[in-house]
Amino acid sequence: MSVLQVDHLKIWDSLTGRMLVTDSSFHLKQGECLAIVGESGSGKSLTCRALMRLNRPGLRQSGDIILEGINLSELPEKEIRKLRGKRLCMIMQNGMRAFDPSRPVGAHLRETLTVHTSHWSRTEMTKNVKLAMESVGFKDPTAVMGRYPHELSGGMLQRVMIALAIVLEPDIIIADEPTTALDAITQYEVVEQFEQLRSRLGSSMIFVSHDLGVVKRIADKVLVMKDGEIVEQGETSDIFSGANHPYTRYLVSSKLALQRHFKQLMGGERVAES
Ligand SMILES: Nc1ncnc2c1ncn2[C@@H]1O[C@H](COP(=O)(O)OP(=O)(O)O)[C@@H](O)[C@H]1O
Ligand SMILES: [Mg+2]
Repeated sequence: MSVLQVDHLKIWDSLTGRMLVTDSSFHLKQGECLAIVGESGSGKSLTCRALMRLNRPGLRQSGDIILEGINLSELPEKEIRKLRGKRLCMIMQNGMRAFDPSRPVGAHLRETLTVHTSHWSRTEMTKNVKLAMESVGFKDPTAVMGRYPHELSGGMLQRVMIALAIVLEPDIIIADEPTTALDAITQYEVVEQFEQLRSRLGSSMIFVSHDLGVVKRIADKVLVMKDGEIVEQGETSDIFSGANHPYTRYLVSSKLALQRHFKQLMGGERVAES
C-alpha cells in the first residue's frame, strides 16, 4: 500500500502565471526510498516543499497529496502543521536557512522536539538528542548545541537536521540534496545514517540528489525531472540499465563518463564504479 500518493501536482507562480511543475504523479510505498534526480532548476525542491505545503505564498499548487488516506491539499494549515516533523520530516537543501539565526541550535532543536515529543522528560529529551547527535558524527554534542547557526558550517548544520530527523522518527523523510554541502567522508556517513534509520523504523524516504552513485545505492525507485516535468520514473535498476527517455540516458551516461574521467585522474583507485 502507498503511504504517499501524489496525483496531478502542479505548481505555478501566481504573479507571472509561469508553470513551474507540470502535472506530476508518483507514489511511495512503506519503507521505500524514491530518488528525485534532474538538473538544477528542474523543480525538485518545489516538489518536495509542495508535499509539506511549504512553498512561498506567491507560489500556488493544485492536485492531490494523499498521506495514508488523508488529502493534505484540503487540510487547514493548523492541521498540516501537526503532521510536519512527525509524519513528514524535511531535511532542506540549505540547512542554514532552517535555523533561527538569533538562537543557539540546541534551543531550536528542543523547541521543534517539544511539539512532537511532549511525553518525554527533559532528561529523556537531552539523552535522545545527544545520542542522535553522536550518531551523525558529533563528538561533543553539548558544545555544538550551544553554538549559533552562523558559528557552524553548512555541513554541520545539515548533520544537526539529520539528527533531528533521527530523534523524531518520522514516517516519511524528505531529504533535499542532504549531502551536497558535505565532504565525501561525511557524505558516506550521512547516507549510512539514512539507511539505518530506514531499516530501523521502516520509514519511507524521498531523496533528492544529483549524485547518481548514491542514488543507485539507496533508492528503490527513481523519478527523473526536467523543466518541471517528470520525464521518467521506474525501478532503480531499470533506470540505470535501460532508461527509455533520452534525457535519463544522458544523465546516466554522463555520470559514467565522469566516473571514468576521475578514475583516470586518480589512477583508478578512488572512484568506485557504482
Ligand atoms: N519562489 C519562487 N517564485 C518563482 N519561481 C520560483 C520560486 N522558487 C523556485 N522557482 C523556480 O522554479 C524552478 C524550479 O526550482 P527548484 O524546484 O528550486 O529547482 P531544483 O530544486 O530542481 O534545482 C526554477 O526555475 C526556479 O527559478
Ligand atoms: Mg533544489
